[in-house]
Amino acid sequence: MSLPGAGTGPPVPPGPVDFLLFGIGQLVTCDPELGEGPLGVVEGGAVAAADGRVVYAGPERQMPDLDMADDVDAFGAGGQAVVPGFVDAHTHLVFAGDRADEFAARLRGVGYEEALAAGGGINRTVRDTRAASDNELRRAALGRLRLAARYGTTTLEAKSGYGLTVEDERRSLEALAWAAERSVVEVVPTFLGAHLIPEEFAGDRDGYLDLLEHEMLPACAPLAEFVDAFCDRGALTVDESRRVLEAGARHGLGTKLHANELGSTGGAALAAELGCVSADHLLFCDEREARALAAAGTVAVLLPGTSFLLRTGRAAPVQVLRDAGVTLALGTDCNPGTCYCESMQLMIALACVHGGLTPEEALLAATDGAARAVGRGGRVGRLAPGAACDLVLLAGRSYLDLAYHLGVNLAQVVVKGGRVGGVEGAGVPVGRGAPAGGGP
Ligand code: NIG
Ligand code: FE
Repeated sequence: MSLPGAGTGPPVPPGPVDFLLFGIGQLVTCDPELGEGPLGVVEGGAVAAADGRVVYAGPERQMPDLDMADDVDAFGAGGQAVVPGFVDAHTHLVFAGDRADEFAARLRGVGYEEALAAGGGINRTVRDTRAASDNELRRAALGRLRLAARYGTTTLEAKSGYGLTVEDERRSLEALAWAAERSVVEVVPTFLGAHLIPEEFAGDRDGYLDLLEHEMLPACAPLAEFVDAFCDRGALTVDESRRVLEAGARHGLGTKLHANELGSTGGAALAAELGCVSADHLLFCDEREARALAAAGTVAVLLPGTSFLLRTGRAAPVQVLRDAGVTLALGTDCNPGTCYCESMQLMIALACVHGGLTPEEALLAATDGAARAVGRGGRVGRLAPGAACDLVLLAGRSYLDLAYHLGVNLAQVVVKGGRVGGVEGAGVPVGRGAPAGGGP
């Protein structure tokens, strides 16, 4: 079947159309070849899918005659806007306990690093996570995953990193896999045994890295796609992070790096040197580092919730990244310390009002850019032939509402792989049945 705008994406599934959304006011494809501007916007759009993947996304009036399944799910969008399902490129979903008191202290002026130095911070969540049962970890991860889905996230990267023993890191990734099986969200698991050198190894940092390399990685790599390290002040050094990422790569894992969140510590340059798929945070990043990231094809994952809540007044230098041509992505960073939030909608808003992105940059970063940051570029994060039929019907007429209509859930219907809502009960169809007259 040859379709208009089929592009060069993944092959279009051959089966009959089993999902159809028509009557879309503003369809944001996030594929500039399919519509206007960088977001590929189509006015008066329709999306058709087969076997979970898009067969057609474009103007409803130009939709070709498609082979429809007898039991096709056909919905009218009532003129509302549709965007691709959000891709959350960076979360720490598996943890027990909370640090609400540290958050309150930060509002009174106690810095993030001060809390860590005082025995709180990541170490405290590590203690809580180690003490939690398997069931508690599984349920906690699933609850957060379901909340993310209700806010329109259909793909989400999630890290371990609050276990920091062989058994607790393995348990964290296993809890994530358990939760992923019970959610419609596609989960991308990352091993972050290098989140911190745990307290018990404070005097023997190399001893911990030996354990990580020779015992944790063999136990955890089969449960993960990526390896990550927190390369920053008070966490791992550049050389320690290099060792962890290279060891992870030998186990077949892709590489990511928490880089330059708290200081200009050389993490961005390391991410570029190693050709990491992403460098995350980047609150400190100069022109040279930005050019190196662009040349390496490393995606910059911006975490505006975290930079906003760190309360240092600093955001990632978006103009520097833009000028260098670095691909931008967004994530929530959902974690108990710096940003406890599952909503990519809020991240889009914060990226604009605090992070200096345009609404178009922010939405592209939350979809296509984030997909690239998790190794799924072209497969999710855009509504184009061959890509996953993951979309959000917004309770609004424009994608601008994501930044403008603040603090409410605009995800009226969430579709993952051509299926509405799924086990999350994410929303109710706005109309069902055969398309109205004049439709396809
Ligand atoms: O991305 N920077 C390291 N990890 C998290 C914070 C984790 C925590 O404080 O528990 C982050 O901000
Ligand atoms: Fe993080």
